[in-house]
This record gives sequence, structure tokens and C-alpha cells, in this order.
Amino acid sequence: MSESYRAVKMTDHVYWVGAVDWAIRDFHGHATQRGTTYNAYLVLADKVTLVDTVKAPFTDELLARVASVIDPAKIDYVISNHTEMDHSGGLPQVLAAAKPEKVFASTMGVKALAEHFRLGQDVQAVKDGESLTLGNLDLAFVEARMLHWPDSMMTYLAQEQVLFSSDAFGMHLAGSERFADEVDDCALVEEAAKYYANILLPLSPLVAKLLEKVARLNLPISMIAPSHGPIWRREPTRIVGLYADWAAGKKARKAVVTYDTMWESTGKMARTIGDGLASGGVTVRVMPLRAAHRSDVATEMLDAGALLVGSPTLNNGLFPTVADVLTYLKGLKPRNLVGAAFGSYGWSGEATGQLEEMLGEMKVELAAGALKVKYVPDDEALAASFALGSAVAERLGTESQS
Ligand code: FEO
Repeated sequence: MSESYRAVKMTDHVYWVGAVDWAIRDFHGHATQRGTTYNAYLVLADKVTLVDTVKAPFTDELLARVASVIDPAKIDYVISNHTEMDHSGGLPQVLAAAKPEKVFASTMGVKALAEHFRLGQDVQAVKDGESLTLGNLDLAFVEARMLHWPDSMMTYLAQEQVLFSSDAFGMHLAGSERFADEVDDCALVEEAAKYYANILLPLSPLVAKLLEKVARLNLPISMIAPSHGPIWRREPTRIVGLYADWAAGKKARKAVVTYDTMWESTGKMARTIGDGLASGGVTVRVMPLRAAHRSDVATEMLDAGALLVGSPTLNNGLFPTVADVLTYLKGLKPRNLVGAAFGSYGWSGEATGQLEEMLGEMKVELAAGALKVKYVPDDEALAASFALGSAVAERLGTESQS
């Protein structure tokens, strides 16, 4: 076993024993420009307990980090907070190496583990609110169903006030820093927002309920240890506050203009619409889809009050990248948006109508009819583009929404 991997001490009894994935750039459709970590945690209690594992190819790294503090064969319990394979993929290898006495998961987790690894009969279900003694320390389980899988739960270490929060409060950010207070703050907030916008946004009503539930439980929390990215040890409530804002759908006076273009006609319209919006005092993000990944558009949408989408007509339909981003955004169920459709065309011009239909399905309130321009926008068409931006700015009002 490699001796080059070390555990990182978090508290008197808890160690980070996860893995850093510096290379990953696509996480099931979500761009991860800064890589990620798969966090697993070792609790050195009378009953030595491993909270979660890692993505399967990183299991040797996990076991080596465990071995830097204790023989993996001494692991008594394994807790599986979440079955998605970036956290459970290493479980079969860990079970083979450690032969723990027991594995615990939520009721839905037991089923999901059975369906992934045929482990059902060997996993013990724990219920919401149930406690588990580790001898000198105690764990409690908090179900977080559908955040973001039916099986999701969190585990709380009472004596050291550590919340192992699974995917919640995490982010895709590889690095040598293990704690949030060691990371550049801009990158930290940007990646936390990106994670929320791309994974949790459609579940915002459930996030709000979970935050209420955790508040009702009144658990003192000194540290939040998520399954990805840095651990929140200084001001752990900061990320909880950000989640409360995001779950509430708070909006800035901001618009996203996203488009693709064939001969720059729709591109010219997009940039001019952006100028119209900016002239109305709106913060604008113009996002050409040859340069912006769908998940970056989703991130900018997190606090945007307006979405304007442009597409040329290609083969009687939308340009494929535009259909892609709208399909993705629709699934994220953004709320409280105004918007508009625009695009150039040569002869048939169906794209803008299709855009309006899709925006309607997303419940985007259209601030004006679609702006269609034949072939190349002239001065009049560019003036209409600017006016469209101004009209949306007016609909956004003068105040940020909440
Ligand atoms: Fe990080 Fe839902 O797995």
C-alpha cells in the first residue's frame, strides 16, 4: 500500500481520508473546470467508523490514507450516506479489505446499494433521527431524501459537532487545501454556487425544508464536512446562509443572454440586446454557447432575473447547442424569470417560435414578442435588438427581487 497518501486530521477523532481528482472535467454533464474531491471521513472511536468511500478508481488512495493512521482491517463500521457511485464505488473494495462488522445506510440506501452492488442483505438500515453509539462517541442520522437522491442522508457526530453532510454544502474543487478558510474566497463561492445551480436548484423547496428541519433539531455545528470540496470549519453557518438565499430564489437585477450563431447575425443581435439591458442598469452576462458550457450558463442563472435566448434557424429548427442548453435549464426548474427570444433566419425562421415555446414551458414570462431578423441585422434591426434589451430591463424593475 502506498505510503505517499496521508490522512488529514480535522478534530481529535476525525480524519479526512478521501481522494483528490485533479483531472475530471465532466461530471455527468456538469463541467468541472477545477476538478473535484471525493471526501471520506474516518472516525477513530471505540468502534472505528468510515463515513462514505470514494469513486472506485480512487479506492487505493482512500485505503492508503486510512492506513496512514490505522490498519484498514480495524474499521468496524462503514456509513454510506449516499449511493451515487462517486461515494459508494469504492465500497466493495473497502468491504473486502476491511471486513467491517456492519455497514449502515438509510432505508432507501439499503435498497440502492442492493441494486448497485447486491449488498442489500449485508447493510443495516438506520432511520431518520436514529442514533448509533460508537462506544465513546455517538452518531445521529438525518435523512435528506431527494437531496439529491432518494437515499441521501447526513450523519452527525455529536461530541465533536461535525455534520457529515453528503453532497449538500459541497462543491467540485480539487486542491491541496482541505478547509474552506484556506481557499481563495472567490473560487469558493463560485464553485459552491455552481454546485447548487447545477445539482440542487430543482430541489430548492426541499432544501428550504431541510434547512428548517436542521434548525429545529438545534444541533450545534462546529464543522460541516461535505462529500466534495473543502470542509467548512470557520463560520460553517456561512454556507447554510448561502443555501437559504439560493433556495429562496433571491434574484439580482441581472440578465443572461445566451445564443449560438452561424454567420454572426444572431451574435450581433445578442451583443446589442446586452447593451440595451446594460443601458437599463442591468448586470448582463452574454454567453455564446461556443464558449460557455451549459453548466456555466446555469450558474449565472442562479441569481439572474431574466433569460434571453437566441438561435438561428437550422434545418427548420433550433441550433443544437441552443436546444441543449434549454433542455438542461428546463430540468433545473428556474423560477421567477422574465425573458425573450431572438434570432436570425434565412427563409423559414421557425427557431424563434420554438424558443418561445420552450421558454413558455419553463414558465418564463415573455417581456416582448420574439425578435426575428432576416439574414443580417441592419441598423433598424440592431435598434430593435437594443430596444428589446431595454424592454426586458424595464420589466426587471429597479429593485432586486426576492
Ligand atoms: Fe457526489 Fe450525488 O454524488
